[in-house]
This record gives sequence, C-alpha cells and structure tokens, in this order.
Amino acid sequence: MLSRAENEYLCRIGPGTPMGNLMRQYWLPAVRSDELVAPDSDPLRVMLLGEQLIAFRDTNGKVGLIQNNCPHRGASLFFGRNEEAGLRCVYHGWKFAADGSCIDMPNEPAESDFRSKVKAVAYPTRERGGIVWAYMGPRTDPPPLPDFEANLLADSDTVVSILHRPCNWMQGWEGEMDTVHQAFLHAGGTRLEDTVPGTFDYYIARTRAPKFAVIDTPYGTSYGAYRPATEDTYYWRIAHMLMPFYAMIPAGMIGQQTRFAAYVPMDDEHTLHWEISHGLMDPSELPFEAQGSEARAPSARASSDYAPRTTGWYGRFNLRQSMANDYLIDRALQRSGRSYTGIPGIRQQDMAVTESMGAIFDRESEHLGTTDALIIRTRRRMIAAARALEEQGVVPPGVDAPELYRQRSGGVLLPRDVNWWDATEAKRTEFAATT
Ligand code: FES
Ligand SMILES: [Fe+2]
Repeated sequence: MLSRAENEYLCRIGPGTPMGNLMRQYWLPAVRSDELVAPDSDPLRVMLLGEQLIAFRDTNGKVGLIQNNCPHRGASLFFGRNEEAGLRCVYHGWKFAADGSCIDMPNEPAESDFRSKVKAVAYPTRERGGIVWAYMGPRTDPPPLPDFEANLLADSDTVVSILHRPCNWMQGWEGEMDTVHQAFLHAGGTRLEDTVPGTFDYYIARTRAPKFAVIDTPYGTSYGAYRPATEDTYYWRIAHMLMPFYAMIPAGMIGQQTRFAAYVPMDDEHTLHWEISHGLMDPSELPFEAQGSEARAPSARASSDYAPRTTGWYGRFNLRQSMANDYLIDRALQRSGRSYTGIPGIRQQDMAVTESMGAIFDRESEHLGTTDALIIRTRRRMIAAARALEEQGVVPPGVDAPELYRQRSGGVLLPRDVNWWDATEAKRTEFAATT
C-alpha cells in the first residue's frame, strides 16, 4: 500500500508536480502522425501532462504543439487558420509559427515591435516511425529519442495503436506489471483440456499462480514469472518496465518481440495507452510452444471497435465499450464459463478492471500479495527517481541513454537450474547487438 501523500506524489503529473517534472525530462509520444494528415490540415486538441495544447502540421510539414490559449487575450487556437507556415488566431489575427514565435500581428501598427516580445509556449516535436514525439522539459537542447526497436525499424509492417483510458496512467501501467491476471481476467475461461500440451497457454492453464523474480534494471524494472513446464524446465515470462511509463510485455517468444507499450498521461485522470509493434509474426510461424491465443497481436483492433472520433480534449481513440455500457458484459457468457469476464476483448477486459478502480485509486486501502512484487518495486523506483530529481537534480534513468531502451521481452523455456536473467541475455539484447 501507499500512504495518501505517496499516492498523490506518484500519480499526479500536472505542471510543477514532482512526477510531472520527472516525465518532462523525457520525450513523450504525443500524437500519431496520421492524426495530422497533411500540411495545413485541421488543428487538433491535445491534452498532455495536464496541459491543453493545439497540434498542427504547418505548410512545410512541421508539427507545432502550442498552448491552447492565444497569448493575446486567450481565444483558443483550435479555431485558428492553419495557413502559410503558421497558425493564425481568428480573434485578431495574431499568427504563430510551429516554434511559438509570433510572426504576424496585423492589429498593431506596422512600426510596432510588440510582435517580437510575444512568444507562445510551444514544445519541440520530432516525428519518427508514425509517432510525433514531444519534449516538454526544461532543456533548450533536448535529449535524444529513446531507441525503441519497433519505432526505429518502423515501416509498413508497423502498427501504432492507441486507446483512451479514462483513469490515471499508473493504473494502466500497473496492469502491464501484473502478469498473473493473464491467467484469470483474460484466460480464466480457458480449460486445460482446451489447450495444446507443450504450449505456453497449456502451462499457464495448468499452473495459474506462478512464482516471481523481480529486479531493478538500468532502465527501470524487470520480472521473470515462472511456472513448471516439462519435467526439467520452467516456462519463464520475462517483461520490462521502462521509465517513465513504458512496458514490454511477455507475450510470445523472447527474441521475436518488437513491441512496446506506453501509458502517456493526458492529465491525472485520463491516459492514452499506446501499443507499437513491428512485424509481428503470424502465430502459425511461431515456435510450437509459443503458439496460442496470447501470441496474437493484442494491438490489432478493428476500426469498428472505436466510437466516432470527436474534436474534444478526450475525443480521440475511445472504444465503443466503456464504463457507460458496462463494457458490454455478457452475463450469460460469463456464467457459461467460456469467458471469465463475459466482456469481449482483451483490452476491454483490462479497461474494465483498471477504470473501475476510480479515476485515481486510493492505494491506502489495497492489500498487496506476493505476486504484486513488481508493482511495489516499480512504484518505489518511480518515487525515488522523482525525489532524486526534485532534491538533487539527478537526471532520471534513460533520459541521456537512449540505448537502454533496446530490449526485448517474451516467454522462454529454461532448464530449472539456470539463472533466468543470465540465460536470456543474448535474446533480450539481440537488437542492440545487430545495430
Ligand atoms: S486573442 Fe488571439 S489574436 Fe487576440
Ligand atoms: Fe491484461
């Protein structure tokens, strides 16, 4: 559990908060490139770390991310005219370039130099692999982008999938740290006799409560969850939590994963959950033991799963299934035992449990068990990093070390007597070795 003060410290990310300052040290996935379809296309409302921003792609293709309220008298730049390499406020015509500088002030006398004194808050952006990254931190010369394999190798095989989760970012992220729920929430309806002996799914169905090894790593935390497989092996599920809000989950076979997730806070009570995968293999091409339901890409979602997009601050990437319709739970299906939840969709199941905790869960009232070890450790790590930044100015892990993000996760069968971390080093870091 966390005290109320610790919980607040961990969860709140608005301007000036310690955790908000920690996150502002890093580049953040802000907008998917195709949300700003073409030069001079429609501006977009973007809520990021509790700040209302307007994103626009200017005439030259550059993405601006600028404060919502016009520096003159506060009209929203969402209504602005995106024209001739800048966004022009429709109230009195002030115009701002992507870097926030005021490049036209038609309501002031031509000889006035007032224009040169006005600057809108605008954050640097960089576009790579279908993601517009934003840097909201204090440096004039931002750090490098993190070396995420699936973002670096991005091509037509890359899927960048986003879901809006109306709850605090930490609740979403903790769901990724929690490998045990796979056997209940998602696969509790899977009977042992329905799985193929010798597959990962079979081992999960046979032993629903795994044992855990949890370690601190240079980029955050990692875990190995293990359960008996063959007589002399364990099935290990190895995953990484990378600061400040990334996860590499243990689906599939380790070494073949090129995938990461991000829980990017829009504000304290709303999160965009990104999943970026590159070249996921057809399940039938996977090694025998990794074949099964979980090996399929959870990021592949049909557009029909989404509610119509709106231009509001929270109008992007909402699923049709939501708290308002109980995520379309089917009680008859739940009773039948074929589905543990009766809720269709893995991500929708995740949403039901994490969003139903409330916008920011009060962690004073929880009761953590042995399988919550990674959650405990990762919270402590985040709080310690925010404190070190706040009190001693210590730059948090990974900010200046983009290569730390060159990791892979996944499942593997290992002899029972080997050290899981050492035995998987080559597989976990193969990407780093080949580039
Ligand atoms: S409020 Fe924007 S130009 Fe006046
Ligand atoms: Fe899940």
